[in-house]
Amino acid sequence: MKINVTIIGYGTMGKAIAKTLSKDSSIKIFTVDIDKKDLSGIKKSDFIILAVKPQDAINAISELKKYGINKKTILLSIMAGFPIKKLFSLSGHKKIVRMMPNLGLSMGLGIAAWKKEGLSSLETKKVKGFINKITENFEVKDEDVINKVTAISGSGPAYFILLADYLFKASKNLGLTLKESKILVEKTFLASALLSKESDYSMLINKITSKGGTTEAALKVFKKKNFDKTILEAVNSAYKRAKELSK
Ligand SMILES: NC(=O)c1ccc[n+]([C@@H]2O[C@H](COP(=O)([O-])OP(=O)(O)OC[C@H]3O[C@@H](n4cnc5c(N)ncnc54)[C@H](OP(=O)(O)O)[C@@H]3O)[C@@H](O)[C@H]2O)c1
Repeated sequence: MKINVTIIGYGTMGKAIAKTLSKDSSIKIFTVDIDKKDLSGIKKSDFIILAVKPQDAINAISELKKYGINKKTILLSIMAGFPIKKLFSLSGHKKIVRMMPNLGLSMGLGIAAWKKEGLSSLETKKVKGFINKITENFEVKDEDVINKVTAISGSGPAYFILLADYLFKASKNLGLTLKESKILVEKTFLASALLSKESDYSMLINKITSKGGTTEAALKVFKKKNFDKTILEAVNSAYKRAKELSK
């Protein structure tokens, strides 16, 4: 039997999720974007994925309510800083999952955390099976963990890509061409991601660093400029914002 899925909000994440799910022949996808209000899939949906920006949630949910959400449907929101309590009160729906994925899922390398509310054990099993089709994931009991996950892995790809962008600019600043800089950063970035799976982070850094050498010279600057504190502050700020949005 087909699993019917409606994705509300066909932007970056909505498209990425649709692309991932479309590889599975057991899934039938309906997508709803702002200008294409075909909500014909709503009533028969096993899952409705809310993938609009938090500021568009009120509109999107009120449109959903006009069509009426089937009691058996599971409403799965991926909106950052949007608490289950608010989803309950806006939708009046009982079966809710709040999930924080990341864009890695578009590459088959996503990671997500999710929290359920109002689901039976059978429905929880169904949700697990469904989320497994989208991304690697784990369930959490405390909703605030979702805000923490948002600050680490939800926003995280942007942090790493920002670093890659700075390295790219530094490379051009040294006089390397755009093409050379791009391939150097890209390969280094990819290799570092794979290497980081192999052992402890500090052990890996030691492997690359020799006393009095070039890496050590660069790392000394990072240390002097409190790079660790910058990361800590940035992550805390993202977490704080997720909590503020949750209010
Ligand atoms: N991007 C990420 O890496 C990421 C990661 C984890 C979680 N999230 C969460 O995922 C959600 C979507 O993020 P995104 O980056 O994919 O945003 P996005 O690219 O702006 O996509 C949202 C889409 O929803 C459409 N939309 C707005 N109001 C609507 C309505 N009433 N009915 C149907 N569609 C509507 C928007 O259309 P218009 O553009 O025409 O307004 C847009 O196409 C956010 O809540 C975010 O917190 C994002």
